Amino acid sequence: PEPGWTVEADVVVVGSGIAGLVTALRCRPYGTVLLVTKALLDEGSTRWAQGGIAAALAPDDSPEEHLADTLTAGVGLCDEMAVRTLVTEGPGAVRRLIELGTEFDRTAEGEVALTREGGHHRRRIAHAGGDATGAEISRALLAALKESDIRVIEHALVLDLLTDDAGRAAGITLHVMGEGQPGGVGAVRAPAVVLATGGLGQVFSATTNPSVSTGDGVALALRAGAAVTDLEFVQFHPTVLWLGDGARGQQPLISEAVRGEGAHLIDHSGERFMVGRHELAELAPRDVVAKGIMTRMRETGASHMLLDGRHLGVRMWEDRFPTILAACRHHGIDPVKEPIPVVPAAHYASGGIRADLNGRTSVPGLYACGEVACTGVHGANRLASNSLLEGLVFAERIAAAISRTPDVSRTSAVPPAPERGVAEGGALLDPSVRGDIQRIMTLCAGVLRNAEGLTTAERELAAMADGAVREPAADGVRVAPCAEAWEVTNLHTVATAIVAAARRREETRGSHWREDFPERDDAGWRGHLVTRLGDHALSTTDDALST
Ligand code: SIN
Repeated sequence: PEPGWTVEADVVVVGSGIAGLVTALRCRPYGTVLLVTKALLDEGSTRWAQGGIAAALAPDDSPEEHLADTLTAGVGLCDEMAVRTLVTEGPGAVRRLIELGTEFDRTAEGEVALTREGGHHRRRIAHAGGDATGAEISRALLAALKESDIRVIEHALVLDLLTDDAGRAAGITLHVMGEGQPGGVGAVRAPAVVLATGGLGQVFSATTNPSVSTGDGVALALRAGAAVTDLEFVQFHPTVLWLGDGARGQQPLISEAVRGEGAHLIDHSGERFMVGRHELAELAPRDVVAKGIMTRMRETGASHMLLDGRHLGVRMWEDRFPTILAACRHHGIDPVKEPIPVVPAAHYASGGIRADLNGRTSVPGLYACGEVACTGVHGANRLASNSLLEGLVFAERIAAAISRTPDVSRTSAVPPAPERGVAEGGALLDPSVRGDIQRIMTLCAGVLRNAEGLTTAERELAAMADGAVREPAADGVRVAPCAEAWEVTNLHTVATAIVAAARRREETRGSHWREDFPERDDAGWRGHLVTRLGDHALSTTDDALST
């Protein structure tokens, strides 16, 4: 469908997690800002973040040490300049977040209380409400948004980028549902477009991500011709609550901070199997712990491992981990009295739309911020609690970059090329294949990968796309354009891109674990894989991370 309505703004921000909200608030002094979000304002990943936000705030810590831990976790693929920017600007950005109203937990002396998580050699994770850090950050930022005159459109699924004659971003198309708002497919014309759409965990059957995390930003960027990188590095969180085999959708997270405060991973015979596997044992970087759990599960034939935090005591559980305690008890487990059954689940996309230190993508005027972006700070495996920090620091940098950009005319915006625009409905997938995509990805491109499984995934995903193109109805459209069809088409695009990158990277590094190439190969694989979409086909090539 043609856009039925048009609104204008100087900046349009897509997404309402920490990255989107901070970008919108920081851009407001420089022009009119429109914030669009897929569901309700607080339904993204930020509000689910438990552990906290990492920054060298303690007197015995330094950005250099935070840098070193981040580079180690990233296994040789971090962009050192991007990490340096993150860790040096991080402490100031967290203080400004406090000025905006975020209330972190404090020590008896009134200092910000700091905990540890996997891969950190220091206590540097600020938290709030015990284990409800994201909810508090979200609350404070939404309060600031309410005080501002930033216009918001909720229930707005972003579809495609609009570009001008010079190929610059000129706005977006989106589909809006709900009352009191413009409805149906419409257009926002804006010379600066900031994607802060979050992650893609819903590509897999079991994930810590909320249902809105369907990779919409990465799919849009691919259709717009932007470079996407490091997609093979999907991080699996080591510990979600095991709810039985075949659990689907968003799973309850058991924060790394529980291990940071002293809980142990044990197998069913009570052995602490991480001891001896890494000098930090349960507090090794996330990929190491996830692999340790999966390996022990294979060795013992168990469906899950156990996280024993009984010795933390009821007081610690109630004060520090009220959210996790309630979630466990809701599912019939009392962590004060018994170990928690845990398994890894898809958690975070370390890769995403390639973005420079100011969030600029390869399409002029298009910015990416937060999980949807790949600024190079995470490399092959994100360090715990660096994600909220990345969203915060780079949102401020994007706003500063936009403030320095000369005004660009909004009148020449054109719809995307028809073959690229999902709004046209040309090659939409049937929403019923959503479960098939998730099953294939979990089985063939999950924690453990090999060539055979990845080839199967590639073939099955291609067959789904062929079905969509080959069986059009009389009007040339097989599936009616609707939110579910756009979403599943995005999931399919992103899944296909992940599989292409995972197939190509024939080594094991960070969260990319190939059982047929079990070693890290620095001689052959010290570079990044960049994926683009052109002429209906994805191409994945070797490239250096620079824009
Ligand atoms: C956690 O609390 O374990 C998650 C933190 C993160 O993903 O950085």
